[in-house]
Amino acid sequence: MSDNVLKVENLNVWYGKPGLFGASQRVHILHDVSFELKRGEILGLVGESGCGKSTLARTILGIEKDKTGTIEHKTFRPQMVFQNPYGSLNPYKKIGWIIEEPLRVLRKHSKQERRQKALDLLDRVGLPASYANRYPDELSGGQRQRVAIAAALIQQPELIFLDEPVSALDVTVQDQILRLLLDVKKQYNLSYLFISHDLNVIYQICDRVMVMKKGEIVESGDIETVYNHPQHPYTQQLLTE
Ligand SMILES: Nc1ncnc2c1ncn2[C@@H]1O[C@H](COP(=O)(O)OP(=O)(O)O)[C@@H](O)[C@H]1O
Ligand SMILES: [Mg+2]
Repeated sequence: MSDNVLKVENLNVWYGKPGLFGASQRVHILHDVSFELKRGEILGLVGESGCGKSTLARTILGIEKDKTGTIEHKTFRPQMVFQNPYGSLNPYKKIGWIIEEPLRVLRKHSKQERRQKALDLLDRVGLPASYANRYPDELSGGQRQRVAIAAALIQQPELIFLDEPVSALDVTVQDQILRLLLDVKKQYNLSYLFISHDLNVIYQICDRVMVMKKGEIVESGDIETVYNHPQHPYTQQLLTE
């Protein structure tokens, strides 16, 4: 593993569909996916909708279990930030409660400590302390994504999976969130697996990129090389679209 935070080898993943008479039909989604993510790196995963990007993240997090291959991560508590934070932020809870929740589960901190950490993180992601008392639907899409980032950071992860984190946002808000992600990455010494179907967004933030087509990594390399000299016809096609 050396300087890797994540190493995936020959990963295959299936989804099961219940078939006739109780027989199960398995659909092969990921095909022999192998890659390494180095400490401090932002690794992009790009490919069209439905190719298996989210499935890869979910499998590494242990959510999808019908798989073969190996997944090693030295890092503990990898966190996930989704495209639509409104879906992942409990609409009935206030922002402060949501950010504190992982600590509440750990039971290691007093109520005051939890609140203080949540307020520090709100400040860190650029939101006023008063937002601790607001509900998710009182926030804009960009502000909700800031909350989702704070909620991920409170667990002190080393690795964060960002699944289309700016895809639902306007371009100016996208830029602000990407800048925030770069800032907190530096401050907390993080590594990211950054998933997007948007090649421009990937280019703005990633050091390296993997191109996925129908569950297979068809090309990978440092971002400048892949974008300037794409080798695979599918990458060439994506870049000219
Ligand atoms: N829970 C599931 N059960 C069955 N099929 C699924 C499930 N989730 C996703 N799929 C299918 O797996 C494929 C990959 O999906 P996904 O990983 O979400 O793609 P992406 O994130 O690249 O858009 C798609 O064909 C999708 O329809
Ligand atoms: Mg997806």
